[in-house]
Amino acid sequence: MAKSAKSTIFFCQNCGYESAKWMGQCPGCKEWNTFVEEPKKPAKSAARAGAGYAVAAGLRPSSGALAGRGRSVAISEVELSDEDRTTTGIGEMDRVMGGGIVHGSLTLVGGDPGIGKSTLLLQVCRNLSAAGVSVLYVSGEESAGQIRMRAERIGTFTDKMLLLCETDIDIISGEINDKKPDVVVIDSIQTMFSEAVGSAPGSVSQVREITGALMQIAKGLGISIFIVGHVTKEGTVAGPRVLEHMVDTVLYFEGDRQSSYRVLRGVKNRFGSTNEIGVFEMRGEGLREVENPSEFMLEGRPKDASGSVVSCSLEGTRPLLVEIQSLVTRTNFGLPRRQATGTDFNRVNLLMAVLEKRCGEHLGDCDAYVNITGGIKISEPAIDLGMVLAILSSFTGKPLPADMVAFGEVGLSGEVRRVSRADIRAAEAARLGFKTVVVPESCLSDVSKIKGIKVIGVSNVSEAKDKCF
Ligand code: TYD
Ligand code: MG
Repeated sequence: MAKSAKSTIFFCQNCGYESAKWMGQCPGCKEWNTFVEEPKKPAKSAARAGAGYAVAAGLRPSSGALAGRGRSVAISEVELSDEDRTTTGIGEMDRVMGGGIVHGSLTLVGGDPGIGKSTLLLQVCRNLSAAGVSVLYVSGEESAGQIRMRAERIGTFTDKMLLLCETDIDIISGEINDKKPDVVVIDSIQTMFSEAVGSAPGSVSQVREITGALMQIAKGLGISIFIVGHVTKEGTVAGPRVLEHMVDTVLYFEGDRQSSYRVLRGVKNRFGSTNEIGVFEMRGEGLREVENPSEFMLEGRPKDASGSVVSCSLEGTRPLLVEIQSLVTRTNFGLPRRQATGTDFNRVNLLMAVLEKRCGEHLGDCDAYVNITGGIKISEPAIDLGMVLAILSSFTGKPLPADMVAFGEVGLSGEVRRVSRADIRAAEAARLGFKTVVVPESCLSDVSKIKGIKVIGVSNVSEAKDKCF
């Protein structure tokens, strides 16, 4: 195969790492078999092409973000914009975005295929168009007829919403220039292509190029753009984690496709705090907001069952009660099996080692399964104490009181360490009718003001075991 070594380059599809030769494992993200060969872009293409799109989209150097290009200004002279935000009409979505859509911002909405990204954005478009905001929905995946069919299920749309089924970024930027909508949705980035790049749609260079072009349009014309990006099974947006650093806001839409609930998570936000979550339920008529996620997560909880404990995680500014289930049994094999769903597997192993060493429990030859019900993923260490109690409860066969909530971080010496905002966590437990809350000893003063709930302070895991069972 005759190939010019100079005209192609290898990219990691997972993280965008560039290499002159093919490699089995990516040095950047350590994933295997992710390198693909793509044509090399002409030098400076991204910058030039970006400016090209901006010009195509009607930007004159005197306008918007490109004004006075190449000239520095004193920060005090820069005009303060009062961060104009438009509400999406969906409270949970506004919360994750930090209060609404910022003008001229670029937002990536990532998620597994079929999770509901198009549905969510279509609902946002409906609300915006109903409020008189002009919207252009660009789809590279569905025909206008198919989108109309989906839209019928969701509700009625006004003429403020325009549809464009197109994948060529030149035509799209031309149309944006022509119609000058306030908000644009690109569904999805993996289907779009630019003639300037020789590789196939969805490849790293294409995705970078298109995002760069959209960025120019967003900042130059003050148009807010949503980009839909599909996630591959490795858990990153296909091709582009490359994308995450280029955009202003990154939202992930996650959830179990078998269950109806979905979580929208803010991962990066230049205009607000991250790690806020919004909870939705997928219905026949589209997505519905869940205003009381704790109640939702605890639905169908078994009473007086061993191995079940309620803990509290803080997602952004909002406390979320979750049920942790654990099953501990003697292993039938030489090597015990450990499995974690919804939490970190290594954390479960670590907590079991802590229990073995600091509590004298013989868990070394036990299989253990830990599950956060509802399919939600929680990485906050504050649920450690809940996990420890769930494991102990299943191991001993003794259930914990059904009206008890426990939270606290567990350290390697078995100490229970303080967590942030113990007060709002305890208040959430009290609000949902729980009678007892187990907290780190050092958090006792924080929760002293919470009425209607008995507080137990613990300083290490063996004390927790004595006081809770
Ligand atoms: P979709 O928004 O097409 O997913 P994505 O854009 O992330 O690929 O959502 C598809 C799923 O949502 C599909 O399996 C059907 C389901 N769905 C409903 O349950 N109710 C609805 O009203 C709609 C529009 C979709
Ligand atoms: Mg879709």
